[in-house]
Amino acid sequence: MDLRDLYQDIIVDHNRSPRNFRLIDPADLQAQGYNPLCGDKLGVYLNLRDGRIEDLAFQGSGCAISVASASLMTEAVKGTSETEARKLYEQVHDMLTGAETDVDPMDLGKLAALAGVREYPSRVKCASLCWHTLIAALDKQSDAVTTE
Ligand code: FES
Repeated sequence: MDLRDLYQDIIVDHNRSPRNFRLIDPADLQAQGYNPLCGDKLGVYLNLRDGRIEDLAFQGSGCAISVASASLMTEAVKGTSETEARKLYEQVHDMLTGAETDVDPMDLGKLAALAGVREYPSRVKCASLCWHTLIAALDKQSDAVTTE
């Protein structure tokens, strides 16, 4: 199995069986993300404890890439500090957009499965929707965040 097949399998698996797909109620922080191009919406919910993201979950409807990305994000970010979560956001954002960066996707674990979307500009928004929503939640932004 080559790396491309492995990455494809990770995305299919996380879309079919999204991890942490649930509502946290009440949540310490939450935000809604919206992609107006397709109408997809995701809610991101998190609880903090001692400066760490103790619990992180999402709910909503989206395409395979947006659901898989949100599922992978919850696995990667749960248990990190807010600072680490923001750093991971920057790294993933650079990976998705193909920005000049020192980040090696191989250092991002399963999140590297999303690296291929950079070849498809409209899919970059699918993959980044949950990340923008996470940052909006951390920033206590009450308006829905959009990809546009
Ligand atoms: Fe809507 Fe991907 S097509 S988020």
